[in-house]
Amino acid sequence: MRVLALLDGTLADPEAPLIRVDDLGLVRGDGVFETILVVDGAPREQGPHLDRLARSAAMLDLPEPDRAAFERAIGLVLDNWTGGREIALKLVHTRGVEGGDGTPTGFALGADISPKVIRQRAEGIAAVTLDRGVEPGLMQRAPWLLLSAKSLSYAVNMAALREAERRGAAEVVFTTPSGSVLEGPTSTLVMVRDRVLTTPPADLGILPGTTQAALFRAAEREGWTTEVAPIAADDLYSADGVFLVSSVRKITRVHTLDGKALPDSTGLHAALDALYESEY
Ligand SMILES: Cc1ncc(COP(=O)(O)O)c(C=O)c1O
Repeated sequence: MRVLALLDGTLADPEAPLIRVDDLGLVRGDGVFETILVVDGAPREQGPHLDRLARSAAMLDLPEPDRAAFERAIGLVLDNWTGGREIALKLVHTRGVEGGDGTPTGFALGADISPKVIRQRAEGIAAVTLDRGVEPGLMQRAPWLLLSAKSLSYAVNMAALREAERRGAAEVVFTTPSGSVLEGPTSTLVMVRDRVLTTPPADLGILPGTTQAALFRAAEREGWTTEVAPIAADDLYSADGVFLVSSVRKITRVHTLDGKALPDSTGLHAALDALYESEY
């Protein structure tokens, strides 16, 4: 099931052509997006997602997204959803048509979560480490690379996922050339050891995750320790658990890394899942 809402407060047919062929979001990937998880009609982390949409837009020198119009479009999708309990709600904001008056293109599209993601949430995943070629300091030195913006230019991330599949895995852990952990193509990495949750710092040029933030909030409240610190890829093998977290995949356990089985973290996964769900 899919429901499409436009920023003028109307619904549109998601099966019908809508975007102009000269939209810069289409021809250059020049735009930004967010994906919000909705459960039982309640969007999770809507404020942080809208904040991040605005932050990404600013990094691309795009017009500021019309927050009230996006909120109305989100409401419209929710009001018209007749599908299952969960929705992947995508917000898109592009630079608009080439040579136009600069009006951005925007919409909110609600869709079902793919059965593959739902299966992976339960079963866990095999991942491979892939070099992203990004050294610490690059984000600050070369802001035009848009590291840590959630831009529509995700072709590289999708290529990495295909490479993972060629290597018999479902997911990717991006690393720096010197072997420091970054993130997944559409997720944040969280490592757990001795009840300490660690995630790599965003200033390495990775997206600050709303799911990781929610999980850390809940964990701190319940007396776990959290830290934002560099992680060496080799350290993942001896951790109590390695997880890829995102709005749509929630807390997904990595059971195998580069073909090697990681220590069994099913119990830890259940504990983190309960922490995350306790936020809502
Ligand atoms: C590159 C990247 N990192 C991390 C995340 C996780 O972010 P969130 O938890 O806010 O969904 C995403 C989300 O799709 C992403 O694209």
